[in-house]
Amino acid sequence: MKDQAYKLRQKMLLDSTTPAKTIGIVSGKGGVGKSNISTNLSILLGKADKKVMLFDMDIGMGNIHLLLGTHHKYSIMDYIENEELELQDVICSNVHGISYIGGGNGLKSIVEWKEDQLERFYEALDYLVLEYDYIIFDMGAGATRETLDLLLTMEDILVVTTPEPTSITDAYSMMKYIHLRDDGKEFYLICNRAINKHEGMVTISRLQETVRRFLNKEIVSLGVLPEDPVVRRAVSEQTPLIKAFPRSPISLSLQAISSSFLLQSEKLKHQEEKSSFLKNIRNLFFRR
Ligand SMILES: Nc1ncnc2c1ncn2[C@@H]1O[C@H](COP(=O)(O)OP(=O)(O)OP(=O)(O)O)[C@@H](O)[C@H]1O
Ligand SMILES: [Mg+2]
Repeated sequence: MKDQAYKLRQKMLLDSTTPAKTIGIVSGKGGVGKSNISTNLSILLGKADKKVMLFDMDIGMGNIHLLLGTHHKYSIMDYIENEELELQDVICSNVHGISYIGGGNGLKSIVEWKEDQLERFYEALDYLVLEYDYIIFDMGAGATRETLDLLLTMEDILVVTTPEPTSITDAYSMMKYIHLRDDGKEFYLICNRAINKHEGMVTISRLQETVRRFLNKEIVSLGVLPEDPVVRRAVSEQTPLIKAFPRSPISLSLQAISSSFLLQSEKLKHQEEKSSFLKNIRNLFFRR
């Protein structure tokens, strides 16, 4: 599979590099703003001099390219299905200061991938983990079994909710599912589309309280994002929000969220030699 030179390069990189932090951006209920948050947060981390890979994991329905206003020739699905493609053919580099991999329109889900396709996906992740500081996975809508299994491989989980009761309940169910399988994950929380700051803060503290009480776990609040018509305008202009409307209240809140996230994640910076993410992925793919 991997040749000697490849192995040597991996070893040399490992000795001198901290592996990327992997973050899954999820919600219980769909359509709450995950893709917008993933895109803008990634760009802000890039502006803070981090090397960021934004990975559209909404395979089959990805829309990040529209939010970034970019076009990609090949998606991760193409890479998996076509052995002639190199990973570099799939990576869109330097789009608003970050790299991006598209989910593609393939209808096949990961559970249908053959062993050699999983191997190809694993090798791609193995490369990315050594190349980037952060890998942000924008997860698809809804909690399918495979989304949840993939999430369990990532180090941090950023949960997005809105103040709607159904969104809050679904966010809690999602965290409970993950926590019961791995109680060591760091959960971050954002409340999006709040009518005012108070509504957002109440939503966050209600979820924090429920998780503390029933799961005996602390979740880190990253903050509140307001309901703001500029989100839709930016989407239709195909320009990331923080680029199109950098002084809007929601962009300022996104900047505060990005700084708070950086602070928290530096504090918890993992010292492991090899990313636990890769170990987890290996277990998921090859020991079932
Ligand atoms: N803060 C906001 N204010 C106003 N509209 C918003 C806000 N956040 C998101 N939206 C709108 O909500 C819709 C869904 O956003 P987005 O695609 O980011 O959600 P998602 O969680 O990724 O959806 P899916 O679950 O389908 O992947 C979009 O039309 C977007 O413009
Ligand atoms: Mg989305």
